[in-house]
Amino acid sequence: MSNRSRTQIAIIGAGPAGLLLGQLLHVYGIETVILERKSRDYVLGRIRAGVLEQGTVGLLDEAGVAARLHSQGIVHHGIELVFGGARHRIDMKEATGKAVTIYGQTEVTRDLMDARDKAGLTTVYEAEGVSLHDLDGDRPRVRYTEAGVTHEVACDFIAGCDGSHGISRQSVSPAAITTFARTYPFGWLGILSETPPVAPELIYANHARGFALCSMRSYTRSRYYIQCAADDRVDDWTDDRFWDELKRRIDQEAIDHLVTGPSIEKSIAPLRSFVAEPMRFGRLFLAGDAAHIVPPTGAKGLNLAASDVHYLARALREYYAEKSSAGIDDYSRRALTRVWKAERFSWWMTSILHRFPDTDAFSARIQIAELNYLVGSRAAATALSENYVGPPF
Ligand code: FAD
Ligand code: PHB
Repeated sequence: MSNRSRTQIAIIGAGPAGLLLGQLLHVYGIETVILERKSRDYVLGRIRAGVLEQGTVGLLDEAGVAARLHSQGIVHHGIELVFGGARHRIDMKEATGKAVTIYGQTEVTRDLMDARDKAGLTTVYEAEGVSLHDLDGDRPRVRYTEAGVTHEVACDFIAGCDGSHGISRQSVSPAAITTFARTYPFGWLGILSETPPVAPELIYANHARGFALCSMRSYTRSRYYIQCAADDRVDDWTDDRFWDELKRRIDQEAIDHLVTGPSIEKSIAPLRSFVAEPMRFGRLFLAGDAAHIVPPTGAKGLNLAASDVHYLARALREYYAEKSSAGIDDYSRRALTRVWKAERFSWWMTSILHRFPDTDAFSARIQIAELNYLVGSRAAATALSENYVGPPF
């Protein structure tokens, strides 16, 4: 072995889960090494989530990386629902006292990477062939290759923060994992454009032609999504076709205010619900998409990664500072309790807003009745709001 080193926590993956865990542990005085398969620019080039719960913002504050978020993020107190051609507002602040912040995952990632660089902490980008060893003993190890040289990192624990296709979950015997999954029979076609948002808050639309979402990244940059066929290809969708289809699914006021422009990014995301249980295997902990996936309708993916990291970072701090294993022993249970709440909410939001192959006239009426109930009942609006702003960590 050419290169051996040691750290307390080896983190696999430099997405939001891995980077936030690394930063919190640094604040707690715990040493980490992050191994990331892709380059820094590649990680920053992925356009993903845009809505941060108050708990996630609090965690970024605690990690000392929220200055730009507070100056550039946009605080939203409500969302709008469009159905039957009319728009209705849900006032989440009134219902829960809480708000969400619009700040892109790319920016969160950039802030965390910059803080890690500034603190002089080790992140290995383009780490190839990462492999996990001795998870059941008390001296786990991680191996990887960088520029043709093999390295080995000995550690106390491994945090698998390497997303849904990562190596961490795959390193565990299938017999030790139970998985729960649902694949939805459609995808989301998303575009990013340098145009002002169509409305001050996010608009979620239920329409006979399919779901649509008007979101944003800033006052000058918008993000729009439309439900598309699962097997559609991005090349099938010119910008003009996208804008035409979006206009068919939103209300007249939104059509009148919509500013269109060339897309600067366009991609199709499949919709999936997935949970792997448990989230700990000996000395390996899974966090974020490595353990669970939600359809994006509830804007929960990134926020769930943050809540896992919150539980895990606290548990590890307790392990080192108080010599107590209580937190790490309870990590999987605590994280999964919150994960399943977000799984339920994301599945429910998806089911009331999308057109399914078996959405017949009866089901369509039931969706509209449910949406009418949401906007007409304080109790129902509060239930939606509590979940959208996120249950407490
Ligand atoms: P990731 O962000 O996936 O990070 C995992 C990291 O691990 C990656 O950088 C990856 O390169 C690295 N990695 C993988 N395998 C290895 C390996 N073998 N060795 C080393 N490193 C490895 N959520 C929303 O709320 N709204 C959205 O609009 C939205 N859109 C999305 C679109 C797409 C295409 C995807 C995939 C997800 C989207 N999500 C969205 C979900 C949200 O972005 C994720 O929940 C969030 O990124 C989870 O963070 P993570 O750190 O757990 O995983
Ligand atoms: C986004 O802006 O990318 C976004 C916002 C809300 C969602 C999903 C995605 O529910």
